Amino acid sequence: MDGLVNIRKWRMISGGKKKSCTVLFPRNLRGSCLSLPSGVESASVFCPNWARRLEFNIMKQVLLCVLLSLSLSANVLALGNAGAGKTKAAVCGGCHGVDGNSALPTYPKLAGQNERYIAQQLTDFKTGKTRSNAIMQGMATPLSRQDIADIGTYFQSQSISSTAPFDKEKAAQGRNLYNGGNLQTGVPACKACHGPAGAGNAGSGYPQLTGQYVPYTLSQLKAFKDGSRSNDKNQVMRVIVKKLTAKDMESVANYIASLKQ
Ligand code: HEC
Ligand code: HEC
Repeated sequence: MDGLVNIRKWRMISGGKKKSCTVLFPRNLRGSCLSLPSGVESASVFCPNWARRLEFNIMKQVLLCVLLSLSLSANVLALGNAGAGKTKAAVCGGCHGVDGNSALPTYPKLAGQNERYIAQQLTDFKTGKTRSNAIMQGMATPLSRQDIADIGTYFQSQSISSTAPFDKEKAAQGRNLYNGGNLQTGVPACKACHGPAGAGNAGSGYPQLTGQYVPYTLSQLKAFKDGSRSNDKNQVMRVIVKKLTAKDMESVANYIASLKQ
């Protein structure tokens, strides 16, 4: 604990139990501190005690320091480093593209996808309970929490290269559903969570959908529908896709493929 000063305890009530997480900042603001890139004012960090993330909103120029758990030991926080992530992501490039812009429609694009969402998916692939895929389970299993944070940060820093191939007519049909939902069947607008251009929401971990391949998007909508993918918290996507017809899914997937940022 040398050189550390205890700044603050965060408390929360979870399942009726009080939990706390101690955040320790190094006294001399060097060493384990990371500076946020200019323009970035917030970050989320993983609190090992709670196995959940804390959102930090900090002012420009302020340093974000490493968060340690109460049981200091090995529980050093996993804050991603894009440079380290690039090296670690080399193995992913064969399918997802070196910069996350995959060449084949069965492999989802990861470029620009938010770190929080990527980290969640990799963690879920590992256990294989709520999202199972044999290839990805094999890829995710050897990754440490730090590897996941680095790789996620790397892909987040890349940009989606272009739209994916789409059918114009179907995309035009999907546009209304995406932007306005369907009042009659009670489908909410996709853009409410995924954004008008499909950028998602990095803070909440809502995935970016922009320019994603139609076959991949369709496969995920179907997986939510038949329940084979069930890692959406509070069943948010499963409830929505129940109300979508096969045609709705086809058209909205084409509209998503046509989106660019
Ligand atoms: C042999 C091909 C292959 C390799 C190599 C591979 N992936 Fe995948 N990845 C896939 C496939 C296929 C899917 C879609 C799985 C599904 O249908 O659920 C996927 C899905 C994903 C997803 C979910 C994307 C989303 O939008 O939900 C993430 C994240 C991911 N891979 C990350 C990685 C990382 C990180 C690596 C390297 C450590 C990697 N992948 C290596 C084939 C691959
Ligand atoms: C209330 C918020 C919300 C709304 C509205 C919403 N989504 Fe989602 N969506 C999510 C969240 C959260 C996830 C990530 C679930 C997870 O962690 O696996 C997601 C995941 C997805 C995925 C999987 C992305 C990937 O890369 O694998 C697709 C595709 C998708 N949504 C499409 C849609 C479409 C189409 C609509 C509109 C019909 C829609 N969503 C409406 C919150 C929402």
